[in-house]
Amino acid sequence: RPPLRVALAGIGVVGGGVVRLLEANRDLIARRAGRAIEIVAVSARDRHKDRGVDLGAYRWEDDMGALVAADDIDVVVEMVGGADGPALTLARQALSAGKALVTANKAMIAHHGLDLARIAEEKDTPLKYEAAVAGGIPVIKAIREGASANEIARVYGILNGTCNYILTLMEREGASFAAALASAQAEGYAEADPSFDVDGVDAAHKLAILAALCFGTRLDIGAVTASGIRDLIAADIREAEALGHRVRLIGMAERSGEALYQHVQPCLVPADHPLAYVPGALNAVVAEGNFVGRLFFEGAGAGAGPTASAIVADIIDIARDEYGPAFAMPVDSLDAAPAADAGAR
Ligand code: NDP
Ligand code: HSE
Repeated sequence: RPPLRVALAGIGVVGGGVVRLLEANRDLIARRAGRAIEIVAVSARDRHKDRGVDLGAYRWEDDMGALVAADDIDVVVEMVGGADGPALTLARQALSAGKALVTANKAMIAHHGLDLARIAEEKDTPLKYEAAVAGGIPVIKAIREGASANEIARVYGILNGTCNYILTLMEREGASFAAALASAQAEGYAEADPSFDVDGVDAAHKLAILAALCFGTRLDIGAVTASGIRDLIAADIREAEALGHRVRLIGMAERSGEALYQHVQPCLVPADHPLAYVPGALNAVVAEGNFVGRLFFEGAGAGAGPTASAIVADIIDIARDEYGPAFAMPVDSLDAAPAADAGAR
């Protein structure tokens, strides 16, 4: 089969990881995909920035729109970020032009995923976003495909690597919140605006996406309530430990009759609970199905390598023509978003 021709929009932490992965594992990926996967063009803001990867072999486009207009591109990979703005414009244009779209952008999927999925369905082209939830853990695929026969009662877990990394450093090294956040930023875990991490907004985006997948409902980010870890101090961590607990930022979505509880908040987790053992920038997702029982997924939730792993897995699925609707079902078959129920717990 002819090579699958890919364009990369955004060559920051994640985009750089995708370039490195596609180059390092080129032959293995071609064998598994059944065809070569070739980067054709790349785009970011500043053509002259040193990105630590050699982009000399690829066509540089100053204007991301040129990636959509080009006839020699099959897949656009959006790694720019932001719910709206250039990322959304690019995503809409790419899908409308019948190109496949792969994105790591949970903010955009949480706010506009249904609209984008509708365009993808109209154009019969893939919309894939494995990297948008829990970084390198293939949880979208596991829930959308592997657990699709189950009624899922609840889904919950640690959905933000930056917060878990900060909490771990405060716990283990007595680091201050500010120093731990600076370290998370240096590692490439944090969002461009880290308040999205520490205020629970990023975890809320991921929870809304997971809830829609698990419950077969229309994604509704407005129904998620969130608080973060910004105001946590060292004494809170020590007191939790004295009580035999650890502090973790937990996102939980649970169906209760016709209502849906979706909440992100710092929780006291008993020290012997599996979620208390999830360290650093790892994430963990628990889903409870009526036939499969309790599923527990753990792995790297942020960073260049794990995120690239999820993005390239999506590209390989596209190369193999293995893709279905973006959510649990085609958009028009999804249940209306249930009423928010903050009182369910
Ligand atoms: P970075 O800030 O490192 O990279 C963003 C890239 O987008 C940069 O190359 C930047 O260009 C480019 N860019 C930003 N604005 C524009 C614009 N207006 N026009 C053109 N290019 C633009 O972010 P990350 O790589 O960390 O994140 C990218 C996406 O992946 C986000 O949606 C994020 O939420 C998501 N994500 C990130 C993870 C992580 O661990 N970092 C994990 C999972 C998802 P330039 O370099 O020239 O400034
Ligand atoms: N900022 C995000 C996090 C990146 O820390 O989890 C991965 O989505």
